[in-house]
Amino acid sequence: MRRNLALIALAGLMLSGPALGQECAVTIEGNDQIQFVQSELRVSSSCTEATLTLVHIGQLAGNIMGHNWVLSTTNDWQAVAQAGQASGPPNYAPEGDERVIAATAVIGGGEEVSITFDISGLEPGGDYTYFCSFPGHFVLMNGNFIIE
Ligand code: CO
Repeated sequence: MRRNLALIALAGLMLSGPALGQECAVTIEGNDQIQFVQSELRVSSSCTEATLTLVHIGQLAGNIMGHNWVLSTTNDWQAVAQAGQASGPPNYAPEGDERVIAATAVIGGGEEVSITFDISGLEPGGDYTYFCSFPGHFVLMNGNFIIE
């Protein structure tokens, strides 16, 4: 009987491990059809930092079908996306723009990139939007970033 209880406890630990890890680390995929596969991302408000991994699951090169992941408030996101496009290659991210909460480099097919950023100043339940700032992509490639 005692051995069975130990096994149950071990199984519980194995289940809780990945679940805890996912609260602060999220992955999003971009493809060759100018799409993010996930339309929203959720992280726990208990996280001080979040880690975002962007995986480009397509095959086209970064100068043709580049994707990045940029986060701002939903109020700011379209203006930041326009500023990003205007700032030019390779990363289309406005330097020093305080409206940018986090931004990865632009990657191409088969590549991935991760960033870890501070979310302790973001509001749980606040309104945040992520997008790709590669020219023309933000209209199709955007989603909600939710702190719950
Ligand atoms: Co893109």
